[in-house]
Amino acid sequence: MTVHIATNGHLSLWCMQRTLVLIKPDGLQRRLAGEIITRLERKGLSLVGIKMLQMDDQAIADHYKHLSTRPFFPEIAAFMKSAPIIATCWAGVEAIATVRILCGATNGRTAIPGTIRGDLAMSVQANVVHASETPEAAEEEIRRFFAPTELFEYPDKGLTLIYSPSEGSGRT
Ligand code: TYD
Repeated sequence: MTVHIATNGHLSLWCMQRTLVLIKPDGLQRRLAGEIITRLERKGLSLVGIKMLQMDDQAIADHYKHLSTRPFFPEIAAFMKSAPIIATCWAGVEAIATVRILCGATNGRTAIPGTIRGDLAMSVQANVVHASETPEAAEEEIRRFFAPTELFEYPDKGLTLIYSPSEGSGRT
């Protein structure tokens, strides 16, 4: 099990799991970036990286390589480069699974209300956000979008109000 807290028992961003969230072209153009970031902040995740960029063919091919043989791949590629995206990196205890739950199912029409897609999307493709699915994917995706110097570790005093001291250590 991943140890999320420092050995001295102080909750620390340094030791927490990280995940990537992309606000897709539809999210940006529908002026939902603030709403999405606010939802992740209010949940208690810590923002450790953020940037705006436009994906190129190579980045899209790498990012969606698991879908490259699917008939809808050209449509996703065109959509993802149609406008800029906002790449964000978040830290938290079990951040990857937590963020996937917050995002909801891929299809916005059937995503559960209360989730980002369930509340804000009506489409499979234009589903507002991408979030890393596994620890391996998160590591690869964060490296794809952020240089090490673009990710920040800082003393996050809010963590003591968000977690118990032992949370994530395997003792809870
Ligand atoms: P996928 O990795 O299956 O879903 P998720 O984003 O929930 O992890 O698919 C990646 C993206 O590909 C998805 O967010 C939207 C797009 N997509 C389609 O456009 N049509 C489809 O039939 C599927 C499965 C995905």
